[in-house]
Amino acid sequence: MQIYPDNRMTELTKIVIPVAGLGTRVLPASKVIPKEMLTVVDRPVIQYVVEEAVDAGFRQIILVTSDHKSAIEDHFDAHFELEVTLERKGKRQLIESIRDIVPPEVTISSVRQHYPLGLGHAVLCAAPLIGDEAFAVSLPDVLLYHPSGDHGKDLKALVREYHATGAALFMVEPVPRERVDQYGIVDCNGEKAEPGKTMDIVGMVEKPKVTEAPSNLSIIGRYILPARTLELLRETEPGAGGEIQLTDAMQQLLAESPMKAYSLQGKTYDCGDKLGFLRANVRFGLSHPELGKDFREIFEEFVRETR
Ligand code: G1P
Repeated sequence: MQIYPDNRMTELTKIVIPVAGLGTRVLPASKVIPKEMLTVVDRPVIQYVVEEAVDAGFRQIILVTSDHKSAIEDHFDAHFELEVTLERKGKRQLIESIRDIVPPEVTISSVRQHYPLGLGHAVLCAAPLIGDEAFAVSLPDVLLYHPSGDHGKDLKALVREYHATGAALFMVEPVPRERVDQYGIVDCNGEKAEPGKTMDIVGMVEKPKVTEAPSNLSIIGRYILPARTLELLRETEPGAGGEIQLTDAMQQLLAESPMKAYSLQGKTYDCGDKLGFLRANVRFGLSHPELGKDFREIFEEFVRETR
């Protein structure tokens, strides 16, 4: 077993965010607008994911995009005309909300995934920008929520755990047994997941049949991986759904080095799906620092009306 001592020395600065998906589960909303640009309360989904990454210390954000997705890059760019207009009107607060969404020391680059060949393939498209360093992956369908308001708490914990152990890591959470076939599922040798706990992994499988799943612990879209993963991805054959799966390359990695699953403390909201999207809007709406109080009243009124 190798433990990647070199990666432990490397500063972890890069995070890959694959945004090339078609968003078929949220059509027609995502016909023209990228699903990552759909709004949860007052900002697009992608902004939550980028803010979480910046908060966890990542300084190089790599978007893996496809055609029709340029709105995502534009969102993090300056909007000169809008800024000048708001400046003229003295709308300082609004200017602040659109300027420097990420701090100046953070760079956002993008690479194209020309064909939708799977998550593993999307990550591999970022290889020239990742180089020979350990990197993180964050899937923008999944929003992390923590009741304390520190929604980046779990990603920060994952980074801390990586620096402490040097092992490849990813987040997991339990899902109902009947839904295991929608996720990557891990085998933790029967160990019980507890919030904030890190467990050793002995295996994983992408979208197993309900009867064949090793557990109900699903991989939830936040990973820290060594550069070696990219070499393994190059050799990974199409797997579940005919796509090149990141989970399959990680299973290969497990044969060479330890890997750990971190059981998250907060909750996930799947914005790749219509109901998950609505749930995210309610959750983040209720906890919004400015709108939360009024929204709670509106929400409670709706609940009363529908009783
Ligand atoms: C991807 C991963 C899967 C993971 C899931 C989390 O699947 O392949 O292992 O559990 O994200 O959302 P997808 O949702 O892209 O099919």
